[in-house]
Amino acid sequence: MNNFEYYNPTRVVFGTDTYAQISNKIEQITAGKRVMVTYGGGSIKKNGVYDAVMDSLKDFDVVEFSGIEANPEYDTLMKAVEMLKKNPVDFVIAIGGGSVIDGTKFIVSAAKYDGNPWDVLSGKKGCKFEYAIPFGSVLTLPATGSEMNSGAVISNSRLKEKRTMGGPQGFPKFSFLDPTVVKTLPKKQIANGIVDAYMHTLEQYLTYPTDNLLQERIAEGILSTLIEIGPKVLEDPSDYKAASNLMWCATMALNGTLRAGVAYDWSTHMIGHELTALHGIDHARTLAIVMPSLYKVKFENKQEKLIQYGQRIFGLEGSCGEEAINRTRTFFESLGIQTKLSDYTDDYKETAGTIRKRFEERGWEGLGERKDLTPAEAEKIVQMSI
Ligand code: NZQ
Ligand code: ZN
Repeated sequence: MNNFEYYNPTRVVFGTDTYAQISNKIEQITAGKRVMVTYGGGSIKKNGVYDAVMDSLKDFDVVEFSGIEANPEYDTLMKAVEMLKKNPVDFVIAIGGGSVIDGTKFIVSAAKYDGNPWDVLSGKKGCKFEYAIPFGSVLTLPATGSEMNSGAVISNSRLKEKRTMGGPQGFPKFSFLDPTVVKTLPKKQIANGIVDAYMHTLEQYLTYPTDNLLQERIAEGILSTLIEIGPKVLEDPSDYKAASNLMWCATMALNGTLRAGVAYDWSTHMIGHELTALHGIDHARTLAIVMPSLYKVKFENKQEKLIQYGQRIFGLEGSCGEEAINRTRTFFESLGIQTKLSDYTDDYKETAGTIRKRFEERGWEGLGERKDLTPAEAEKIVQMSI
């Protein structure tokens, strides 16, 4: 087992009829009464989440910032940063999916940063976020795990860039997880959530054996649970048993637990982010596009775990690595997620070469668990995914 340090300070409040506790949770963190509420395009006003949260905040002085889009935009978020620099608040609450929560992580960090926040996102040497206004979240879409981790992904469509950020300041102080929010999600978003959580698990599992038997079993537990309940949530989003299991799987898939003591990959995500930046494809769908080709190109590296995965998750026998990849693709397609780049865009001729060039410019010479996935291989993977 690899050495590791494990820390997660986010308090999770899971279950139904809990939003009335939000005010109390804020009071445990700050005596201040000024709160900013952030949200997206308004789904929370249709499904009652906004009203329930506002009810709990009735004794606070609340300002709102809405309009955070899917794949949160740097320019939009900077407007909130300006607001907070002029009129500081004591606490921020993000209500939404990964985009709103990620956007809020950026807002609260950039509001406490003196330099140009884009320098941090673009990886300029020596630039990092260290402080943040304390914030919490009310999750409305099980998918990214952002509600219990410290990472965020921010888009800049002017530059066609999508960049990641992190750091200990990025953990929500608390997150409210009520699985009944799944009821109002479009099926497309439910499918995205299942695939994103599945791929977060695979990125931290399909590497090489590190003798961390417990972490492997936890990962396999999440994968099997998603295969079991995913179709049920799609069929009936008001099935509480299925929805609550999806929500907890998605949180557990990316809250730091799975990565403890194991090797992890993330190259499917890094290539996937480029497909969103270049073509606007939903995050989870980019992963479904990249995954089969990436596992084929890195087959040698991942062979042992692919066989374990095939045997334990799909009940296959013998050297079943390739069949395990095919079964994964079939599972995603059964959820209505297409797995070829050409299913989403006709404008793919330059894509693979552009991604190679971007990785070269950034000095990303070796991605993946062995740091050996080269820009040329990234190009090949994208080419094979068309
Ligand atoms: O804007 P609103 O009106 O809220 O509508 C949203 C949005 O249009 C809607 N929605 C959310 N909850 C709903 C709902 N509609 C009806 N009922 C509800 N209960 O769903 C749409 C998509 O929301 P979004 O937040 O974009 O989806 P998701 O949670 O999949 O987040 C995707 C973003 O998270 C990043 C992705 O790159 C992408 O930008 N990720 C963040 C990660 C992290 N922080 O750890 C890890 C992931 O790998 C991922 O990269
Ligand atoms: Zn993801």
